[in-house]
Amino acid sequence: MRFIPLENKDSVGQWAARHIVQRIKQFNPSTDRPFVLGLPTGGTPIPTYQELIRLHHKGEVSFTNIITFNMDEYVGLPASHPECYRIFMQRHFFDHVDIPEKNINFLNGNAKDLAAECQRYEETIKGYGGIELFMGGVGHDGHIAFNEPGSSLASRTRPKMLTTETRQANARFFDHDISQVPQRALTVGVGTVLDARELMILATGGDKSRAVQATVEGAVNHMWTISALQLHPKSIMICDAPATLDL
Ligand code: GLP
Repeated sequence: MRFIPLENKDSVGQWAARHIVQRIKQFNPSTDRPFVLGLPTGGTPIPTYQELIRLHHKGEVSFTNIITFNMDEYVGLPASHPECYRIFMQRHFFDHVDIPEKNINFLNGNAKDLAAECQRYEETIKGYGGIELFMGGVGHDGHIAFNEPGSSLASRTRPKMLTTETRQANARFFDHDISQVPQRALTVGVGTVLDARELMILATGGDKSRAVQATVEGAVNHMWTISALQLHPKSIMICDAPATLDL
């Protein structure tokens, strides 16, 4: 694992955005596969999205040939709800760059058959030849995507019950009212994330320091699913100074 300690959340966002742009530029244009990018929601990646938008407007990167897969989606939120992850991504990133609508992939948390929807997602990822670079954040309890403590490190895309801790953490987006936070989500599995050819995880703020410590110094285990990063041959963990305080 490559560990990149930086000053603050903006430097983390700048580093991550530049890394994405560099990888897109390095990607062999003669291959018939597109560049496939895995993306997270949450507060952590917002500075990265802002920097990517800035670089796009400067003419340094185009997203016309990029395919994206988001990590997860709430189950049962109306598709127009502002905290629906699809809407979040439109608001913070997709609406500001040149990515074609057809290149954006999302789990449908309102599908009638959730298991079939998760299977469809796995097959779509495979159909594109897999994910080139997966960017992620981390929950306070060390979850990656919505792979809550206790998830198998071999797990694939599936519905998952959210823990009270995660719902409490995400209540800040729902008027601080935990009862409005959905109880379930669809999420890519830890195994799905590990299949990406490169992983880049961002952690900012002192409230993530315990999760960073578990990722970098802890044993690989399914109670801190982010620790699976240690199993990946090409993974990067980028932190700001407060997130490193438990190391
Ligand atoms: C949610 C998302 C995760 C994200 C985590 C941390 O649980 N499903 O993908 O990494 O929140 O979010 P934040 O970046 O807001 O701390």
